[in-house]
Amino acid sequence: MPLVLRMDLIKEINKLKKEKNAIILTHCYQNIEIDEVSDFVGDSLYLSKMAAKTNADIIVFAGVYFMAQSAKLLSPDKKVLLPNMSSGCLMADMINTSDLEQFKKKYPNIPIVCYINSTAEIKAKCDICCTSSNAVDVVRSLNVPKVLFVPDTYLGKYVEKKLGNVEVITYNGFCPTHLRIRKEDILNARKNYPDAPILIHPECHLEVVKLADFCGSTKEIMEYAKNSKEKRFIIATEKGVADRLSRDSKKENWNKEFILINDNIICPNMKKNTLDNIYQTLLDEKNEITLDETIAKKAKECIEKMLQINLKN
Ligand code: 13P
Ligand code: SF4
Repeated sequence: MPLVLRMDLIKEINKLKKEKNAIILTHCYQNIEIDEVSDFVGDSLYLSKMAAKTNADIIVFAGVYFMAQSAKLLSPDKKVLLPNMSSGCLMADMINTSDLEQFKKKYPNIPIVCYINSTAEIKAKCDICCTSSNAVDVVRSLNVPKVLFVPDTYLGKYVEKKLGNVEVITYNGFCPTHLRIRKEDILNARKNYPDAPILIHPECHLEVVKLADFCGSTKEIMEYAKNSKEKRFIIATEKGVADRLSRDSKKENWNKEFILINDNIICPNMKKNTLDNIYQTLLDEKNEITLDETIAKKAKECIEKMLQINLKN
């Protein structure tokens, strides 16, 4: 988009936000230009907390469907809008309620944890929610020898490995974007940039995570990179993280370099939101998230249990 038009659009969005008492919450996998109209940019835990706190009348969620749904669960009186209604999370869509019932039947009487990357219907049938920032703490807080974990098998197994004393029985969901990071990518990065620590997301394959230097959520990866004394980093998660770190390094003179581990680590659904569709969505107040009341009540409890635990985040 030509620069003048883009600047006009940014101005118009900011004007509409004021007129309508709206805020924009943006996940750090979004197209980076969206940050220019955003009130809060971060990972899913941070954005859930911001959604629960805000006094705005409208929340535009620049993220994927389950994130906007979580914002609506936590702020039921607000209008929550998603710029592109087809921006679902492929992992969240790998489990439906009948899959969940079968999974629970196979392993009866075991507490069940769901990753926030799941629909409200799934959350409504689980005991407690977690994000990638707090999954280890949430499972530990249950203080039981065994838990069920849906839908991400890799995050679940990562938690099991970190805790060492809890068996985590996982559903077989996965993130197709993070699974595109292969062992060879790590080996190539080591060969080409031997000085650069490799920072990886726990949705990646465990065999690949083992080879990296630091594993953490989006936010943890960004904080690690910012606070580290190293000057060059390999980013093994979605491209938006590398883009934001590179931008901030330039803006704030960190003199650090961030290299995306492989050019395909892009979540296509995360990239469906643009300044254009954010503008149209806010202008027309369209694409509103609605929820069945009974499901919403239960799903909210599942998220609130997570938010109530006294976690380090
Ligand atoms: P975070 O919890 O790190 O924000 O990750 C969300 C996500 O969708 C990762 O693929
Ligand atoms: Fe879902 Fe993976 Fe995209 Fe995250 S990166 S929103 S887990 S498909």
